Amino acid sequence: MPTLNWIGKEAVVNHDKEVPFKLLKKVKSQSVGENSHNLIIHGDNLEALKALMPYYVGKIKCIYIDPPYNTGNEGWVYNDKVNSPKIKKWLGKVVGNEPTDLCRHDKWLCMMYPRLKLLRDLLRDDGAIFISIDDNEHCHLKMILDEMFGIENFVTNIIWQKKYTQSNDAKYFSSTHDFIVCYAKNIKNADFKINLLERTEKQNARYKNLDNDPRGPWMTQPLHAKSGNDKTYTFTFQNGVKWKPPAGTFPRYSLDTLRKAEMNGEIWFGAKGTAVPRLKKYLNEMKDGVIPKTIWLYDEVGSNDDAKKELKNVFDDNPFATPKPTKLLKTIFKISSGKDDIVLDSFAGSGTAGHSILDLNKEDGGKRKFILVEMEDDIAKNITAERIRRVCKTNEYSDGFEYCELTKPLFDENGQIEKECDFNQFATYIYFTETQTNIDKAKINKNFIGEYSDTHFYLIYKEKGKNVLTKTFLRQLKKDGARKIVYADRCMVDDDILEEYNIVFKQIPYEVKVY
Ligand SMILES: C[S@@+](CC[C@H](N)C(=O)[O-])C[C@H]1O[C@@H](n2cnc3c(N)ncnc32)[C@H](O)[C@@H]1O
Repeated sequence: MPTLNWIGKEAVVNHDKEVPFKLLKKVKSQSVGENSHNLIIHGDNLEALKALMPYYVGKIKCIYIDPPYNTGNEGWVYNDKVNSPKIKKWLGKVVGNEPTDLCRHDKWLCMMYPRLKLLRDLLRDDGAIFISIDDNEHCHLKMILDEMFGIENFVTNIIWQKKYTQSNDAKYFSSTHDFIVCYAKNIKNADFKINLLERTEKQNARYKNLDNDPRGPWMTQPLHAKSGNDKTYTFTFQNGVKWKPPAGTFPRYSLDTLRKAEMNGEIWFGAKGTAVPRLKKYLNEMKDGVIPKTIWLYDEVGSNDDAKKELKNVFDDNPFATPKPTKLLKTIFKISSGKDDIVLDSFAGSGTAGHSILDLNKEDGGKRKFILVEMEDDIAKNITAERIRRVCKTNEYSDGFEYCELTKPLFDENGQIEKECDFNQFATYIYFTETQTNIDKAKINKNFIGEYSDTHFYLIYKEKGKNVLTKTFLRQLKKDGARKIVYADRCMVDDDILEEYNIVFKQIPYEVKVY
């Protein structure tokens, strides 16, 4: 399979592993309600996604992101702390504002690669990711997604008509669409599916009942098709009408099917009874919905202008330049999530994803949860969170959200555990690094933090100097033969006794794995 190379690739392919693990801290004054399980995180999504990992790995059903398109006019900054001299030279600099600055493509790829890797790991095995993008990076994005997700997991490229007016001052073409690229985490997972969309009134209106058929409204389809088996035939209907497929086409149905359809009154010969016969297809036999198409028109899912109008309904002025319409995101969430699923948008901007989830839940009685991440302080507080606050209030939605900031790294510069990290947070992290799965908090019982693959995990983490594995601690453990891993600062038990209890001692912080 062809792969893409760019300057800096080697330095970022495993950068997601080097990103320090930070803790999430709830900011009560910015949050709305209690225990809604919706999250708005203020911070760089590279660190935020990493911080989410011990809680949400493999749990997100649908990810939608709308990253900088790298148009050359956005002024975004590439400042990931990658330890490569070449990349360090770039850090903090506003990314090339000349579309001819080739280096800006390298930077965009360096920025996206580790974030996409973390997003992939957060996805559920039957989940999918949808990414808005335009011509500037579409082909690069497709190539790195093929490499990261596997080419077999590519689902489709949706074309979204973002604009209906024509810009006659455009240099060559007036751009009226964006792409939305979709990949499954694992297309072979039997539970992976794209949900049908409900039939629109416009689609239903195509079905009429011109002959008062008791089976209800119908539409017709030709009896021929462009391809088929070679056995062509001429059919004479009981009313004397003779039918044969037009030159170069084939009968769509067998003779037997046609005969039965005629007997059942399912052939339509036009209002005067003399037209070319066609087969009736009844509305009540149609699937409950329609399979989504790959072209989404503005009058079905909204345009950029509609998105700005929606935002203006929430804030009197327009505080954000590039929002997406809620109809567009609702369509994505409808086809890709169930009513109890979690969705994530790590380039949240004005918070359209959160707004869309709240509206969608109201429409279909769902209980979906959202996680939004926004880096800019002013946007996160005053636009992303404020929009959700206002939408909840105006619509009397009972849901709220927890607003979180990223705190200090879990390990300080000397490798010591950050003092603010409490037992549950540390246990969650330890369990995740040991098992790559999320802890079940209900199972935490004193020092026992969970089990996985016949191994039991324990954590002794109370006070500095007192986190010691002693014989007294050992006596509380069952001698049941199960392998036990105990994390503590020190161990005062001899190796032969540890062996007798089938215990592996791991010293904090040195043996705590860094994910
Ligand atoms: C194109 S906007 C998204 C608009 C959004 N879909 C909406 O409907 O409002 C991209 C957003 O991502 C944010 N962003 C860019 N880089 C980020 C990063 N590394 N972490 C978190 N947010 C980031 C930007 O500040 C901007 O608000």
